[in-house]
Amino acid sequence: MDSILVKGNGPLRGTIPIAGAKNACLALMPATLLSDEPLTLTNAPRLSDIKTMTQLLQSLGAEVTSMQGGQVLALSSHDLMNLTADYDIVRKMRASNLVLGPLLARAGRAVVSLPGGCAIGARPMDLHIAGLEALGAEIELKDGYLHAVAPKGLKGAVIEQRFASVGATENIVMAATLAKGMTVLKNAAREPEIVDLVACLRAMGAQIEGEGTGTITIEGVDRLHGATHRVVSDRIELGTYMIAPAIAGGEIELLGGRRALLGSFCDKLEEAGVHIEETKAGLKVAHATGRVKAVNVKTEVFPGFPTDLQAQMMALLCTAHGTSVLEETIFENRFMHAPELMRMGAQIDVHGGHATVTGVGKLKGAPVMATDLRASVSLILAGLAAEGETLVRRVYHLDRGYERLEEKLAGVGALVERIKEE
Ligand code: EPZ
Repeated sequence: MDSILVKGNGPLRGTIPIAGAKNACLALMPATLLSDEPLTLTNAPRLSDIKTMTQLLQSLGAEVTSMQGGQVLALSSHDLMNLTADYDIVRKMRASNLVLGPLLARAGRAVVSLPGGCAIGARPMDLHIAGLEALGAEIELKDGYLHAVAPKGLKGAVIEQRFASVGATENIVMAATLAKGMTVLKNAAREPEIVDLVACLRAMGAQIEGEGTGTITIEGVDRLHGATHRVVSDRIELGTYMIAPAIAGGEIELLGGRRALLGSFCDKLEEAGVHIEETKAGLKVAHATGRVKAVNVKTEVFPGFPTDLQAQMMALLCTAHGTSVLEETIFENRFMHAPELMRMGAQIDVHGGHATVTGVGKLKGAPVMATDLRASVSLILAGLAAEGETLVRRVYHLDRGYERLEEKLAGVGALVERIKEE
């Protein structure tokens, strides 16, 4: 298992290109199952999660060809020979459950393993099941697998989600594109990745309105055709790298970044004293060396502060002037980065869904352990500003969501190197 060694090296300067969004691409790829014509995705990120989704789709009989070093994916699911998403793939990546809606809509049947728990929480699927049953699917849990059938095809319905689940919204919207009649999904998730998925489905011939608002309306059609779609920029990668100059000082420009992808996050960074300027090429982020101001953070569904940037923000606030309170409202166990940051000298008090961070002048480098994707990168960010060396172990977590991280950070002057461990 590889490790990454980070040495605090002062202010950062330069540009970082932002890749296509992992969480958009993981919903766009299963959309190929909705049509027997080819789907081409450009600006795809080069990540291990994309490889896992590729393996899953290929196991169902879809063809997925990766071109231009992985930035272009050519998909087609002309002949589906298998309708089961296996436990050993789904447990590695929960987003595998996004084949459920498309398979039901296309083939009238699907067998998808429940993902099982993951580091940040139980990750149930009750909202996916409720929405698809409302569309006429019959879903039964057997031996850890969801067995779903739609003997008479899917039928449009009015559905109101108790919680604006991203994945459930994606499964329901994809299934509804081929249902008979109108579907109205209320309390739909509003994340930019949903907006991107709908843009792609519309290019494939789907009739959908309201994406990005809380109510999405889908008029079912008989079939969808092929399309070519460019994956939206990754707002979580963007937000992660915006923290780098905030914590280490300096000024970097994030190519492809737009403020609209991260409204409330940008507001919070500016409240902490970080300077953000939208340029033609992206977002310029600057902060003189030294400590930011303490701020309070509460994670919420979009357009609130993203849960996927909570760990990174905590790393920044560990060296802020004053005391900050972070409230995690989306996942039940998403503070695993706190004990690792405390090994670096951070002062953090975790109680249930709240973490109180009392800023210290300087963190000290230490060997730390990555536990989940976003927790891992928060330790790298802390290492950029810490005295001495920080060795982050088990960086396979990082490779799931950050392409060429060490290259991108070294490109702006950080001392970051990957240590291959046999
Ligand atoms: C997506 O996960 C993202 N993953 C997550 O990013 C992100 O943290 C999350 O949305 C919230 O923004 C992908 O898009 C591949 P949810 P998803 O359904 O769809 C509960 C990362 O780091 N819930 O909105 O699984 C659930 O337990 C990953 O890139 C139910 O109770 O998120 C959680 O507490 C991590 N029942 C909350 O809702 C359900 O049926 C949010 O889940 C579904 C979800």
